[in-house]
Amino acid sequence: MTETITVDRPAPRVARITLNRPKALNALNLQTMRELTAVAADLDRSDDVGAIVLTGSDRAFAAGADIKEMAPRTYSEMHAEDWFAGWDALTRVRTPLIAAVAGHALGGGCELAMMCDLLLAADTARFGQPEITLGVIPGMGGSQRLTRAIGKAKAMDLILTGRTMKAEEAERAGLVSRVVPAADLLTEAVAVAEKIGSMSFIAATTAKEAVNRVFESTLAEGVLFERRVFHALFATHDQKEGMAAFVEKRTAEFRHA
Ligand code: CAA
Repeated sequence: MTETITVDRPAPRVARITLNRPKALNALNLQTMRELTAVAADLDRSDDVGAIVLTGSDRAFAAGADIKEMAPRTYSEMHAEDWFAGWDALTRVRTPLIAAVAGHALGGGCELAMMCDLLLAADTARFGQPEITLGVIPGMGGSQRLTRAIGKAKAMDLILTGRTMKAEEAERAGLVSRVVPAADLLTEAVAVAEKIGSMSFIAATTAKEAVNRVFESTLAEGVLFERRVFHALFATHDQKEGMAAFVEKRTAEFRHA
């Protein structure tokens, strides 16, 4: 039973996690972190989930880490509890994660969206890292992931001034893969998830792993990793089936496992 998120299954092989703290604009507290990472890990282990959509409300994907929860803490408490380290669990989820963002995606909200593999934005979405206005800096990976996503110039601009950017600017900068009218956001995100979920699960998780390698390795090491896992896919049923289906001009029937 979760209190700060809801989970449903809007389409075959698709799970959706919705942040649900409307009064706090989905501010991310410890409970949200625990519930969301536990649910995502469970869904990751489930054979009939091929993609996960993570979303918030029309008004806010998430307005950041919970400032009221953090405000009284001391350095030694933050250090002892390794505050925010629990969110790393989300980056160990192998199933493709799709963030569907409407409204505010600020601070930890922007950082949570950036932990996902694909980021779809409603035209109402606003992204930013306003931590500097609170006398701190991003703490859930924003200084690293935002800079990798949009480059130093814009990342510095956002992180040092605390300004927000609209969906079109975020798309131009490469943070967001698609911008859609707010009314279509969830339909579009679920359709993308369903499409990914219909693919070979082993190919999709391997593709995600290969793309993410870019952030952890040199080009030569990354290309070598890609080639090795490409070769490995020839040991799978889904490779045999996918290529046979092409030759026989029929739809592939993947095993998803
Ligand atoms: N933490 C806790 N509560 C929050 C919150 C947050 N990050 N963001 C909003 N809320 C609460 C407000 O306190 C308010 O609660 P009350 O009604 O009890 O006062 C409620 O949500 C509604 O918010 P507003 O009345 O402020 O709504 P608004 O429409 O006027 O403004 C907003 C919306 C511009 C998003 C504004 O709420 C805001 O600036 N929020 C804070 C954004 C922020 O600084 N985020 C970074 C947090 S630090 C962080 O995330 C660290 C990190 O790197 C992980």
